[in-house]
Amino acid sequence: MTSARRDPAIRTILMPKDTNAAGSIFGGIILSYIDLAAVVEAQKLNPRPRFVTVAMDQIVFHEPVFVGDLVSFYTKLVKVGRTSVTVDVDVVAQRRHDPSQEVQVTEARVVYVAVDEDRRPIPIQSVGE
Ligand SMILES: CC(C)(COP(=O)(O)OP(=O)(O)OC[C@H]1O[C@@H](n2cnc3c(N)ncnc32)[C@H](O)[C@@H]1OP(=O)(O)O)[C@@H](O)C(=O)NCCC(=O)NCCS
Repeated sequence: MTSARRDPAIRTILMPKDTNAAGSIFGGIILSYIDLAAVVEAQKLNPRPRFVTVAMDQIVFHEPVFVGDLVSFYTKLVKVGRTSVTVDVDVVAQRRHDPSQEVQVTEARVVYVAVDEDRRPIPIQSVGE
């Protein structure tokens, strides 16, 4: 599916404060948005439990992101376990200086676990039923 046909979980423009020493956007900033985008997807399953991140895998930074790029975080539910949810996130940048150019800059897989007030794993589907 092309990004034009989907709604991103998050879309943002990154700022000079988000850069690394090389002048592109710091990878940790991208990761924090990936984490947020994936939890937006996880909460569609059940908005009641708290979800905590247990793993981020298969993170690949394909291309740099630059200040002023319009950056979209597209999510896809991959797996629903008993207490965990796995979400793939594709990050696409629309270049500031050439908006016709859309580049897949990063991809990652994020696993969340639904937890109770004591931070113990709980079945996702039973919460709120
Ligand atoms: C998330 C947490 C509660 C899980 O505790 P745990 O003792 O590993 O729980 P369990 O062994 O019962 O596993 C719970 C689920 O997580 C999955 N899981 C655990 N470790 C995993 C890993 N490294 N990768 C993928 N899935 C994992 C299990 O497969 C299980 O899924 P399922 O119920 O759908 O089959 C605990 O690791 C934790 O509190 N981590 C810190 C979370 C946090 O604070 N995140 C914010 C960033 S600091």
